[in-house]
Amino acid sequence: MSGVPVLSVRDGHKRFGAVHALKGVSLDAWRGEVLALLGDNGAGKSTLVRCISGVHALDEGEIRLDGEIAAISTPSLARRAGIETVYQDLALFDNLTPAQNFYCGRELSFPSWLPLGLRFVSNRAMDREAASVIDRLKVKLPKFDAPVALMSGGQRQAIAVARATVFARKLVILDEPTAALGVRESRKVLDLVRQLRDEGNAVILITHNMEHVIELADRAVVLRQGRKVGELKPDRGNQHELVSLIVGAEA
Ligand SMILES: Nc1ncnc2c1ncn2[C@@H]1O[C@H](COP(=O)(O)OP(=O)(O)OP(=O)(O)O)[C@@H](O)[C@H]1O
Ligand SMILES: [Mg+2]
Repeated sequence: MSGVPVLSVRDGHKRFGAVHALKGVSLDAWRGEVLALLGDNGAGKSTLVRCISGVHALDEGEIRLDGEIAAISTPSLARRAGIETVYQDLALFDNLTPAQNFYCGRELSFPSWLPLGLRFVSNRAMDREAASVIDRLKVKLPKFDAPVALMSGGQRQAIAVARATVFARKLVILDEPTAALGVRESRKVLDLVRQLRDEGNAVILITHNMEHVIELADRAVVLRQGRKVGELKPDRGNQHELVSLIVGAEA
């Protein structure tokens, strides 16, 4: 691939006390590409994602966005830099409605010619936009203006994915976005992933579902015990090799 990767992590280390969760991980993500980030439970995938999206800071190593050293010290700075993340533990606010969750911290306000502090926040416009995106996912919500706390795991997951697709500008990271979803809803999420890629985003997809990886990923990076142990283009022919890399068995 030519040019500069959207995201470039170099020699990233992260420790939690005695746990060395990332041991010198390097990875690039490119526009128009779905990168699968694979590994067993505890391999370090979510930790890497949280370092890229401003939840944690790397202890060592660097992160570049479009070739520039990026100081992503908070999730809101990461968003501002064009990184949308759907976290594994679904960072939605329980007491807010789907639309309020969508626009939290970036409410739609009018009229646009007034300074921000003097504008009206338009709940109706936010409801309308959020509803139309969630509708595309074909996920049924009990009531659109109900707090998210009353929704199922799958409904919450759909809201989080839909939110990321609305605001995606550069890099979208999805940490097990289909884990709580049924077959039909998973399909819709995979369609959205494809759409995000085709719109020119870089997409990092974490999943334990090999079928999804082979169907969708242009490239796969495998982590094991905090280290990158492999990188390949997934297809039916190397599925076993991929699984061996993940579990650490010799092929
Ligand atoms: N906030 C934290 N404090 C302490 N240890 C942590 C923390 N977050 C992760 N770890 C540890 O870091 C290691 C990597 O965890 P991580 O959540 O990144 O794994 P993962 O690859 O996402 O696994 P899974 O597939 O189960 O989601 C694990 O040993 C985990 O216990
Ligand atoms: Mg994880």
